Amino acid sequence: MSVDISDVLDIVSRQNLWRGKEAVNLIASENVQSDAVKQVEVNDFMGRYAEGHPNTSDGDNRYYEGTQYIDQIESMATSEIIQLAKCKQADVRPVSGNAANTAVALAILRGGDTVIVNSIEVGGHISHSPIGVVGRRIQIRGKVLTPGRDNSVNIHYWPTTEDGYHLDVPKCVDLVEEKSPNMVILGKSLFLFPEPVREIAEVCRAKNIPMLYDGAHVLGLIFGGQFQNPFEEGAHFINGSTHKTFPGPQRGVILGSMAGEQEMKWWTSVDRGVMPGSSSSHHLHTLPGLLIAIREMAEHGKKYAAQIIANAKALGQALADEGVTVEAQEFGFTASHQLALNVTNFGNAKDIARSLAEKSNIITNFNMLPWDKDARNPSGLRIGVQEMTRYGMKEAEMGELASLMKAGLEGKSVKDEVTKLRSRFTDVHFS
Ligand SMILES: Cc1ncc(COP(=O)(O)O)c(C=O)c1O
Repeated sequence: MSVDISDVLDIVSRQNLWRGKEAVNLIASENVQSDAVKQVEVNDFMGRYAEGHPNTSDGDNRYYEGTQYIDQIESMATSEIIQLAKCKQADVRPVSGNAANTAVALAILRGGDTVIVNSIEVGGHISHSPIGVVGRRIQIRGKVLTPGRDNSVNIHYWPTTEDGYHLDVPKCVDLVEEKSPNMVILGKSLFLFPEPVREIAEVCRAKNIPMLYDGAHVLGLIFGGQFQNPFEEGAHFINGSTHKTFPGPQRGVILGSMAGEQEMKWWTSVDRGVMPGSSSSHHLHTLPGLLIAIREMAEHGKKYAAQIIANAKALGQALADEGVTVEAQEFGFTASHQLALNVTNFGNAKDIARSLAEKSNIITNFNMLPWDKDARNPSGLRIGVQEMTRYGMKEAEMGELASLMKAGLEGKSVKDEVTKLRSRFTDVHFS
């Protein structure tokens, strides 16, 4: 007799209805996949192994047999993402952005080394922090490592300007000169404005310091040509998630601009950082979907990214017009898919995020703002418009959404109105 799965099916279908058709999803790290991507996601690759690289007519590069079809998919995904990113190398095997960061950290950093990153308070990602892979390069059993001691990696933080949303370029350059780090990392999770890649890359390249640009959030905007292009500005690596502004399956990617002997050595180390460093078999069933998403972005990426940014700016202005404190107003609120709201007027950000979701079907996450000290008591909400843009919302809907959000922030329940707005936008566009 088959096992009873009716309760599981019920939960899954409720999720599909709620987040797929009823809720306004504003989490900046999420997205929805096209029907074409979903169509290829349930497949036999799901239970298979393919460690190593695709076999070619020149050589056997896998550790298992039976890989001829994933070899084709992986080779196509690699060459097509290289074309899309206009870069020299790509590794499509990391299973997420975090795994991509792990691979590069394992490749480049050793205990006692020095790295410069964005702090969590100013939006940096936890994987760059003392408790993430960057800070915990060499672990000692039973011991919490202290940066600068115990053979862990010494972490320094990029200085910011007073507003907290931009790096202080001369001070950053001085810091690189002074510390001569073994790697620098730019890019972050609360990511409103481009980073000064060009200025920092200049000094890094003169000192032969690898620069990783963590584009987890903004990968789709970069590919759409609507955000800075870190390779044109001098970065060595771009890491990304393939499911945020790049609207594919949950995976990661490492892109490279390596040229010359030294840089190719970094790339060879990264190869080992990916496998065995951060993954073995790499969730093969999601790779055909990534290939389709690459093609969707090649075709529609420019329009999609431009609409995301137009929507984010429109929502920022509309919320400000409603009297909500939107951060970085003096800089036009944002140049990305994200907005940062200071919700201290309305209460505790954690409670507000919960209440927006439960009472109003508006899904966001609480977030530290640059002056916050306690991650458990943050002042902000981070919102991203990339998913609702993919569902077809434009500037006019951002106005409607702003007034519903204002009511939700005030603690009112606007679930019916939000669900009604969302019901007009259930088909995936740009695919
Ligand atoms: C800057 C940054 N890097 C890396 C990651 C991790 O990516 P993933 O969730 O794909 O592992 C995130 C996640 O949101 C991020 O914001």
